[in-house]
Amino acid sequence: MDFLPEQLQAYIENHTGDENALLKKINRDTHAQVLMSRMLSGQVQGRFLSMMSKLVRPKNILEIGTYTGYSALCLAEGLQQNGRLTTIDVNEELEARVRSYFKDSNYGDRIDFRIGDARKIIPTLRENFDLVFIDADKENYSNYFDLVIDKVPSGGLILADNVLWSGKVLDAKPDKDTMAIIAFNDKVHADNRVENLLMPLRDGVMMLLKK
Ligand SMILES: C[S@@+](CC[C@H](N)C(=O)[O-])C[C@H]1O[C@@H](n2cnc3c(N)ncnc32)[C@H](O)[C@@H]1O
Repeated sequence: MDFLPEQLQAYIENHTGDENALLKKINRDTHAQVLMSRMLSGQVQGRFLSMMSKLVRPKNILEIGTYTGYSALCLAEGLQQNGRLTTIDVNEELEARVRSYFKDSNYGDRIDFRIGDARKIIPTLRENFDLVFIDADKENYSNYFDLVIDKVPSGGLILADNVLWSGKVLDAKPDKDTMAIIAFNDKVHADNRVENLLMPLRDGVMMLLKK
């Protein structure tokens, strides 16, 4: 997932703000106890999400793909005083762990954690979202964009993770997930409702600013 040489990656980590104690614990516990721990955003991407959120100062944030709650807590750092973050994950096995992390954070009472399929839950959400982070199943990235775009006001920001998909977007014979990411990147690039920037951060983050 990291395209940069190890030493350069270490240099970047050493020159990026540190995680707080709870994020460090989630990062450590996830790597020690949870399957597929490479899905966790990690320190550098986490600080990026936090900084984007502090710049947007969102009233409402939507995250699609909670996993162990690491990125949700990074995004929550920029919430307005009375703002709320809704985060959705289909994996109920991690629910108790994630709820306990949220409870231990400064944002427990401002996080609405929903268990279920995001494709079913998003249409039931009534509020608008100034910041959206798409980080769930790759084959639905385009669907998630379609489901959220009308809920994002002008000036709102949509971020989508893993859009370089370990470089597989260049494969001559892409697999199903890769084809879905390629289709998403092409679709949003052609959509004139958003300004787009593909940021080569970690596995690639697509930044979409609603016009
Ligand atoms: C890459 S992980 C999220 C990582 C997390 N955002 C972070 O950075 O720490 C993707 C998550 O999406 C969830 N997911 C997959 N399909 C989903 C769906 N249809 N609806 C909701 N969540 C889904 C998975 O259970 C998994 O926890």
